[in-house]
Order: sequence, then C-alpha cells, then structure tokens
Amino acid sequence: MKCRKCGREAVINMRQHKLALCDAHFLEWVSEQTQRFIEKYEMFTPQERILVAVSGGKDSLSLWDVLLRLGYRADGLYIGLGIDGGVDYSSQSHVMCDKFLAGIQADLADRRSQTADPQLAPADSNWKPTLHMVDLAHVYGETIPQVAARTTRGRGKPCSVCGLVKRHVMNRVARDGGYDVLTTGHNLDDEVAVLLGNTLSWNAGYLLRQAPVLPADKPGLARKVKPFFRFYERETAAYALVRGIEYIYDECPFAEGSTSIAHKEILNQMEKDSPGVKLRFYLDFLRAREQGLFAQQAAHVELNACDKCGQPTSAPGRCAFCRLWEGKKTAEVGQASQV
Ligand code: AMP
Ligand code: FES
Ligand code: ZN
Ligand code: ZN
Repeated sequence: MKCRKCGREAVINMRQHKLALCDAHFLEWVSEQTQRFIEKYEMFTPQERILVAVSGGKDSLSLWDVLLRLGYRADGLYIGLGIDGGVDYSSQSHVMCDKFLAGIQADLADRRSQTADPQLAPADSNWKPTLHMVDLAHVYGETIPQVAARTTRGRGKPCSVCGLVKRHVMNRVARDGGYDVLTTGHNLDDEVAVLLGNTLSWNAGYLLRQAPVLPADKPGLARKVKPFFRFYERETAAYALVRGIEYIYDECPFAEGSTSIAHKEILNQMEKDSPGVKLRFYLDFLRAREQGLFAQQAAHVELNACDKCGQPTSAPGRCAFCRLWEGKKTAEVGQASQV
C-alpha cells in the first residue's frame, strides 16, 4: 500500500476515507484534521486557555501533543485515582503523563530556538505547558476503589463513581485555574459505543447531552470539548506510535467486561463489513440532534448550584459528588497542586 500523497510506503490505510498515508503525511493529516474540527465545531480559539484531561493513554496524550504542536496554550490535568489492579495502573499512568510533558517541553523549546514560527510561541513566548495533578487519596482521603466500596452508588461498579468524580475534579480545576475550555481525548469509538448504549435504552436526556461541544452550563464552568471525536481509535493509536509517544497500554482493570467494551466489539464487526458505518452513525446522530430530535427533553432538565461546591446539579441541595463524601472528612483544597 502506497501513500496517496507521496507514493512512499503507507503506515496506515483508513478504509472509511479510502486514504492510505505514510508516517510523515499521517502526522500532518491528523494535525490538519484536528484544526479543521476545532474550527468547524467552534471548539476554541488560539487566544483561549485550554485544559487537557490526560489519563496517560494514547488518546489524551496524542491530543495534548497535537494541540501543543498546533500552537495552542494547553496545560494538562492528571487525576490520580489510586487504582492498582495488579499492574500499578494509576501510578504508571501518571509516569506516562510526566514523561510526555518532559519530552514535549524539550521538543517545543528546540523547535522555538530553531525556527521563527510564531505558532510555536503563541501569546507569550515564555509560556510552557504544565501538568496539574490531583491525587484523590491526598485531597479527598480515599481512592476510587475505596469510595466505591463504601458507597451504594459504587458498590460493584467503581466506574460509575469514577466517572462522577473525574467530571467534578475536571470542572473544578478548569474553574479554579481560569481555563476557558476543558478537553478530553474521547475518540469516535468511545463516542459511538456510548451512543449505541443510549440508543438501546432510548435515553433522550443522555442523547441530548452527548455532543463534541458542551457549552458551559453555568458561569464559572468551562466549556467541554472533544477535538478527537471524529478519529477512530486505531488512528489515535497510530498517531502515538508514529510520533513515539509512550503511553499506558493497559485498560483500566475495572473496565473489563463492561458494556461499552462489548459495544465496541459489535461496532468493529459492523465496521469490518461496512467501512465508515461508525462515523456515519455518529454524524447522522449529530445531524438529527441539531435538527432538534431530542429538544423536548431540554425543558425538563433544570440545574441548580450545589449548596456545597457550587457546581451545577439536577438534585436539590447537594450534588451527587458532595453526597459521596458525606460523613467523611475531606480536605478539598482550592487549588490543584502543580507539577
Ligand atoms: P475514559 O473515560 O477512561 O475512556 O477516558 C476518557 C477521557 O477522560 C480521556 O481521554 C481523558 O481525556 C480523560 N481521563 C480519563 N482518565 C483520566 C485521569 N485519570 N485524569 C485525567 N483525565 C482523565
Ligand atoms: Fe475509573 Fe476505571 S478509570 S474505574
Ligand atoms: Zn507520504
Ligand atoms: Zn457539590
């Protein structure tokens, strides 16, 4: 297979786009496509401050890499969940984020000194990316497996508690750090698996809130965006590989046997027989959503500010996050520590 642009050996063939590319042209393509999605879906501008939630995995580290190389001012946030799973999962994930940061800082400094490219030195030429780190055990006194074991919400399924905690912490750090926008590394496979789940249960409320750009619900909250939502998982993996980004290969040990993994397998089988079906399913959903298919639901969702933390919640009084820690003394501090 030859690269469509230069005829060299291709490293990837994307059947859904009928496009094969060599290593250099693939890196360029990912970067150009990301910029195109950022503009098309009005995700953010070069003037805005961006917080990238990084898990140490291929998607979020590749996203951070692409945004920095495009010249965006993007800092990282790693949340230490305290998950071991026999593979020292959380500590290893953190190590990957630290390694990435050290590598990219050196790379950006090198490129700045070699070229006069203004994109590499956005508003402030002294600016360099940092990584915020929030360790749950340190800040809240418990790891995810511990909260999950203590609370009804988490019993038997840490993932639900984990999702809730991550969303809260991301919002808090974005708000306290004065970021305009919070980005996550969700790829098309993630989004389509969730979409299939939401469609199987016809959960109109969830369908309404599933989008690549979620505006800030309340003052002080950052907009949430997913710049990689149109890339297949194999493309983000290929990007990390070709770019030489080290990432954690292990999935979270609690994800094993989850419905979303089962959905991904079914969708991959469909994709094999019909290249592009995943992308079409998602884009057609977005179009239907734009046309107001789930709009009636909007009226029913009313949000209040949580009594304790101030984040929006549909429950009266305290939000689900704050209720998790009721009866437990925590030391939520105003600022995340910086590495
Ligand atoms: P997941 O829910 O594990 O599929 O992750 C989806 C996205 O959430 C990732 O691409 C990251 O952007 C973000 N994320 C997941 N885990 C963490 C973490 N421990 N710290 C910061 N961000 C995370
Ligand atoms: Fe949170 Fe797996 S990443 S339970
Ligand atoms: Zn090429
Ligand atoms: Zn709260």
